[in-house]
Amino acid sequence: MKNIVLIGFMGSGKTEIGKRLADKLGYTFIDTDSIIENEMGKSIAEIFHEYGEEDFRGLETGVVKELSGIRGCVISTGGGVVINRENILNLKKDGLMVWLKASPKTIYERVKSEYRRPLLRVENPLQEINKLLGIREPLYAEADITIETDGIDVEKIVAIIADAYSKY
Ligand code: S3P
Repeated sequence: MKNIVLIGFMGSGKTEIGKRLADKLGYTFIDTDSIIENEMGKSIAEIFHEYGEEDFRGLETGVVKELSGIRGCVISTGGGVVINRENILNLKKDGLMVWLKASPKTIYERVKSEYRRPLLRVENPLQEINKLLGIREPLYAEADITIETDGIDVEKIVAIIADAYSKY
């Protein structure tokens, strides 16, 4: 059984959708950020603060490698996982990769009241979202399936992914 791998920007709903999808399919839900936090005994924000983004990316790539060989899981990834091409290749090898696409405005509305995302703790988060999306969208577009999530409820998105997966 192939995995389902959810990619997309922060605030695109990967965790919530991933958990519901895993429930629906009876699959195990895995979140790469949670694995990193458990392995380090620190939150993502603490890891960024203490070690910096580069070290975080190294940990992220390590976790993606550790996951190679697992099957029948729904894997939710951190929004920057696509920056490293090796991660895209490893995740796609055994999984259907799904991009949960959301507009900058939707993303901003979802993340503006949260403080746990270090990359968006800047003076102008919307500008930062646009900047990062400009870099990352071509990478997210390497997914097998793209789902436009703006204005669509979670259950519908879960159903669309489950249907695509059954035909894959
Ligand atoms: C990041 C996204 C975060 C987390 C870290 C970096 C990014 O995950 O991995 O803060 O670079 O976009 P979520 O996408 O789950 O918020």
